[in-house]
Amino acid sequence: MNKLRFATIGCGRISYKHVEAIVNNKEEAELVAVCDLIYENANRNKVAYEKETKNSNVNIYTDYKEMIEKEDIDVITIATESGYHPEIAIYCMNKGLNVICEKPMALSMEDADNMINASRKNNVCLSICHQNRFNPPIQKLRAALDEGKFGKLVNGTARILWNRNMGYYKQAPWRGTWKLDGGTLMNQCIHNIDLLQWMMGGEIDTVYSQCDTFLRDIEGEDFGAIVIRFKNGAIGVVEGSACVYPKNLEETLSIFGSCGTVCIGGLAVNRIETWEFEDGYKLDEEFIKNQNDPDTVYGHGHIPLFKDVIDAIKYNREPLINGEEGKKAMSIVLGAYKSRLTGLPVKFPLDKFSTMDMVKLKER
Ligand SMILES: NC(=O)c1ccc[n+]([C@@H]2O[C@H](COP(=O)([O-])OP(=O)(O)OC[C@H]3O[C@@H](n4cnc5c(N)ncnc54)[C@H](O)[C@@H]3O)[C@@H](O)[C@H]2O)c1
Repeated sequence: MNKLRFATIGCGRISYKHVEAIVNNKEEAELVAVCDLIYENANRNKVAYEKETKNSNVNIYTDYKEMIEKEDIDVITIATESGYHPEIAIYCMNKGLNVICEKPMALSMEDADNMINASRKNNVCLSICHQNRFNPPIQKLRAALDEGKFGKLVNGTARILWNRNMGYYKQAPWRGTWKLDGGTLMNQCIHNIDLLQWMMGGEIDTVYSQCDTFLRDIEGEDFGAIVIRFKNGAIGVVEGSACVYPKNLEETLSIFGSCGTVCIGGLAVNRIETWEFEDGYKLDEEFIKNQNDPDTVYGHGHIPLFKDVIDAIKYNREPLINGEEGKKAMSIVLGAYKSRLTGLPVKFPLDKFSTMDMVKLKER
């Protein structure tokens, strides 16, 4: 197969991870174009890619529709502000292009459904960047669950105890707004919420939350607690903060069953801290010895995620995190927001709800 031709839309803070993922899949992928409303941002990614690959054929655009018109593209990757994902992704999929979209896929149930429908209607791949699912310890945990090692699942906890100061929010004023982002649950915590629901059984009965904006001057919450009742009876607890003094402390996922306990921690769920099973099931010592925290909280999961999408296209199969999968964590956060608004537990499935419904908080 020829290399798949990639183009990126949105070349800000996270987009270097897309470049890194294309570079690290260079046997099967190449970057042909980059687009940002700000020329310099697009140029930064072009320069970074060309430095790594010695390939100098990346074209720059400031209008993604023009880029799609002029370039021969197989896969679009989207890393714009979250609120713009649906419009751009649907436009691309309607042009017959495969899409890798940053998380959260959308900020409303309706937009997420429209994205999924566009991928189905056009028979193209849609994958959402919940890249931590590919962290090696997370893959080990998932395999242990698949093998039934935990017995009866009782509870799971996702703790995201990070610091995002006002400098971070001022750097890009869309952050923390209901229109384009949401609060820390939707932006930072959604990764671990995705892992929690992926491990605990997915189907949700009820979501209840308490959230507030304590320290940051933003519309969304800077701390949120969620209790999730899964349909299989197990209970999930989320503790998510952007307020931890003075810096990021931990992102930890803990899963507890009748015959097993696993805690994966470190700064961003990349280090196994507890691994206990009744049947003595152990991990390879080399694996334990060699695990270490990556240099950024984003980890290195974009590389295998892009590889998964390349294989999905190549073998005409679903990517691991398709639109339906990407919608799950987003729905939990929207459920938590609805619960904050109503003060009540929210029964799933969640019907129409959007971060924009949260502007009603002001009216109280
Ligand atoms: N997967 C992760 O771990 C991770 C980490 C950080 C951010 N994100 C997500 O990535 C997305 C981007 O976040 P960021 O912090 O990089 O934002 P950012 O503000 O740094 O960058 C966004 C970029 O998109 C550009 N843009 C906006 N509209 C555009 C358009 N129509 N065409 C072309 N370019 C356009 C902006 O000019 C800007 O350069 C968000 O959805 C965020 O939630 C994911």
